[in-house]
Amino acid sequence: MQSLIPVNLPQNSYDIAIAPYSLHQLGKKVKELDLGKKVLLVSNPNIFNLYGKTAVTSLETAGFEVWVHLIPDGERYKTLDQIFNIYDTALGNYLERSSTLVALGGGVIGDMTGFAAATWLRGINFVQVPTSLLAMVDASIGGKTGVNHPQGKNLIGAFHQPRLVLIDPLLLQTLSPREFRAGMAEVIKYGVIWDEDLFVQLETADRIDSFSALKEELLQTILTRSCQAKAEVVSKDEKEGGLRAILNYGHTVGHAVESLTGYEQVLHGEGVGIGMAIAGEIAAAMGFWTPKEMERQQNLITKTGLPIQLPSILDVEAILETLKSDKKVKAGKVRFVLPKAIGNVTITDEVPSDILRQVLQSKLSRTECLKI
Ligand code: GLY
Repeated sequence: MQSLIPVNLPQNSYDIAIAPYSLHQLGKKVKELDLGKKVLLVSNPNIFNLYGKTAVTSLETAGFEVWVHLIPDGERYKTLDQIFNIYDTALGNYLERSSTLVALGGGVIGDMTGFAAATWLRGINFVQVPTSLLAMVDASIGGKTGVNHPQGKNLIGAFHQPRLVLIDPLLLQTLSPREFRAGMAEVIKYGVIWDEDLFVQLETADRIDSFSALKEELLQTILTRSCQAKAEVVSKDEKEGGLRAILNYGHTVGHAVESLTGYEQVLHGEGVGIGMAIAGEIAAAMGFWTPKEMERQQNLITKTGLPIQLPSILDVEAILETLKSDKKVKAGKVRFVLPKAIGNVTITDEVPSDILRQVLQSKLSRTECLKI
């Protein structure tokens, strides 16, 4: 089964191609787009060990000159220093304006490769080959690229659209169960913000808590419908002037949880799962959606094996303080994406502080809640 999803933009439209074994077609696909003769493939050692040879062989067979640049694995390496190392490799190998960077990895590799491509020689081509579920359904699409500043995540960045997103679902076979569950948080997000039918399909599926438990058809549905949702939102609002902010559902509290736990204890998707659970409760307390709809969302998050409670080590006052410094704060007010129904959300900065405090308090776990 395969799908081709267009990301239609005023300039720089591109396709998301989803098909099993498509990693073997990487060279052919890049060649079809006429993206120069030189490719710099950026990855991390773990992913490169698993899939580097297939990717490089495919590119070389299609006639490309290929170099490889590896970045150590982990969020802590998402820095400008590492971008400089990519520039050095690009310079040392005479990459030109017409050359292409290929990101083979998860969200960190994709964001960094995209940022290097956005800035090297004032912008060169890049192609996303995501290897994690989270990167397949979210990070690789839409052109948000960047690195972290010591004071905050993704504070340095640029919009730079890839020329192609190539998704090979079989690469998920080697993803850890925990990373798989974290990616499912973003899939549930699309169900709540955009696609009620996707939500219902997840609700009625036997199991959605591991890659091996998923039926092939459901996996294809998950990838296709999530990418479609993201592509539609980005096509309507490329630079986040308005609508695109709905993709931040669950991210307001999610980012605070990630930040307060040092970005290494709680995965991004786990933070988003907790953040959606909290946004859902706030929405119910404000009468935006019904307690029944909220319960359906919480049940779906739990069915995925994700926590819906805040880690016990956190403190409500610290979370409130962190929320004030979030990128999404506008004129000093914290902005929340809140559901009005399954498949429909709104954005508000009018969440009463007593409701926010009360919900956070009620969501503090008394026991450890993360399955590592
Ligand atoms: N991950 C949110 C966005 O791409 O806008």
